[in-house]
Amino acid sequence: METERKKVIFSAIQPSGTITLGNYLGALKNWVALQDEYDCIFSLADLHTITVRQDPATFRKNTTEAYALLLACGIDPKKSIFFIQSHVPAHAQLAWVLNCYTQFGELSRMTQFKDKAAKHADNINAGLFTYPSLMAADILLYQADLVPVGADQKQHLELTRNIADRFNAAYSPTFNLPDGYIPKHGARIMSLQDPSSKMSKSDSNVNGFVALLDPPEVVMRKFKRAVTDSEACVRYAEGKDGVNNLMGIYSCVTGKTMEEIEHEFEGRGYGDFKTAVGEAVVEHLRPIQEKYAQYIADKAYLEECYREGAQRAERIANRTLAKVMKKIGFLPA
Ligand code: TRP
Repeated sequence: METERKKVIFSAIQPSGTITLGNYLGALKNWVALQDEYDCIFSLADLHTITVRQDPATFRKNTTEAYALLLACGIDPKKSIFFIQSHVPAHAQLAWVLNCYTQFGELSRMTQFKDKAAKHADNINAGLFTYPSLMAADILLYQADLVPVGADQKQHLELTRNIADRFNAAYSPTFNLPDGYIPKHGARIMSLQDPSSKMSKSDSNVNGFVALLDPPEVVMRKFKRAVTDSEACVRYAEGKDGVNNLMGIYSCVTGKTMEEIEHEFEGRGYGDFKTAVGEAVVEHLRPIQEKYAQYIADKAYLEECYREGAQRAERIANRTLAKVMKKIGFLPA
């Protein structure tokens, strides 16, 4: 009996510096879990990163480190295709083509563009504006069925579907229309200092985020300083954003339910609780940090992985690109 084709998952993350506990628990940990059930294709979206000016040496270092760190988190280059976007030229090529099938008005409505334009008022470049067509190219090249994305990328995914649909209607079915993938154990990790905003590496207060490579004593310090409330009771409830967030993190790294956590800390203060969360996170990060140290010291292995990843990605991407070019009427080379 023929085995059913596994669904294709595509996702990407920018190699733009520190990867936080929020990125890990909110996205990466789920990617790792999806690898057996799906055909996964994961990328470092370095072409997207240059929409904000990068220092060349830092950019190279960030990309290498992000690749090693994702391997350390459990992205398995044998199970999945794991590559660096700029190594597969088809992404930039299809992005150009899709730019010609994307309306100015559509791109103008993207909230991320509006936010980033406000934040980088001195460099509102055309790449920032057409960022979503490049993202559409990433997804559509692989005929992805599912794309795990956070809330902030949903609008881009919707646009991707619209572009794909428009192209299919103008020619003939070419692109698969991708759906968003909401993980079963989704986690939205908030800032430890301001639990009403998402944990972000660009938080001006470094105590707001935990970096995956923070040493144990730094992790402990950040959790001990985490904002809670004055009730002194570990329970999950509306209005207790700080405690809810810490419980969410603790639940993610220990697998315990909220009820189990409430029970565990019954009658105990926040001091104990924060120490326990810190220690659990340290233990969770320990093997990741150990593997990271091995990978980052082995440049030959890293190169081998991302070169092979790019070759495998390219075979799929070029097939889609060739179809697109032919349908549009480009003269074959
Ligand atoms: N724009 C995404 C982000 O910043 C990263 C990304 C690039 C992506 N291409 C993608 C995510 C394709 C999903 C699919 O988070």
